[in-house]
Amino acid sequence: LGPNGAGKSTTLKTISGMLDVEEGRVASGNVRMLGQDITGASAERMVADGVVHVVEGRKVLRHMTAEQNLVVGGHRLTRMADVKQGLERVYGLIPRLAELRTRTAGYLSGGEQQLLLIGRAMMARPRLLMIDEPSLGLAPLMVKEIFDLLAKLRGEGVSLLIVEQHAQAALALADHGYILENGRV
Ligand SMILES: Nc1ncnc2c1ncn2[C@@H]1O[C@H](COP(=O)(O)OP(=O)(O)OP(=O)(O)O)[C@@H](O)[C@H]1O
Ligand SMILES: [Mg+2]
Repeated sequence: LGPNGAGKSTTLKTISGMLDVEEGRVASGNVRMLGQDITGASAERMVADGVVHVVEGRKVLRHMTAEQNLVVGGHRLTRMADVKQGLERVYGLIPRLAELRTRTAGYLSGGEQQLLLIGRAMMARPRLLMIDEPSLGLAPLMVKEIFDLLAKLRGEGVSLLIVEQHAQAALALADHGYILENGRV
């Protein structure tokens, strides 16, 4: 949690290795995961280690179908059977996506696109799933659907690090809350 410009998105990018993309770097301090120093690790390495980052701003592949978006999320899976199994798992978790599988992603509603992005992230089999502002701009009913889904993922044993404006909904789900201001907790 934290005001605009507090450094929430930057914190997630630092962990996922996306800081590179913006030619940023860690000037001091370090990032540790399960006791290991991962400061400056590449985005590829982090995904391989099970850290998946859903960035701010709902970037689906607009001209592809919902299912093609999911397949892209599973690009590290080399066996067709694993892709299939991944799709089945995602459709089990998010039944709405099964109904939307042949639809063009760019024409889905904001809420549906957010569900798709979470589904796409799940295709990468995350141990830690980081989501930046999942409910931004969504109607209350859709916000509830997103949080119900996050609760489900939590129940499946996926660790979540969420940047979120709906403090109450986020804290109801969370074991820990952090408030950032001017880049500091
Ligand atoms: N720890 C930091 N050290 C130096 N600069 C930082 C740090 N954290 C963030 N910044 C810079 O501050 C600006 C805002 O950061 P960021 O986008 O992470 O904020 P945010 O909390 O996600 O804001 P919003 O709510 O608007 O999405 C960016 O220009 C970023 O590069
Ligand atoms: Mg942000």
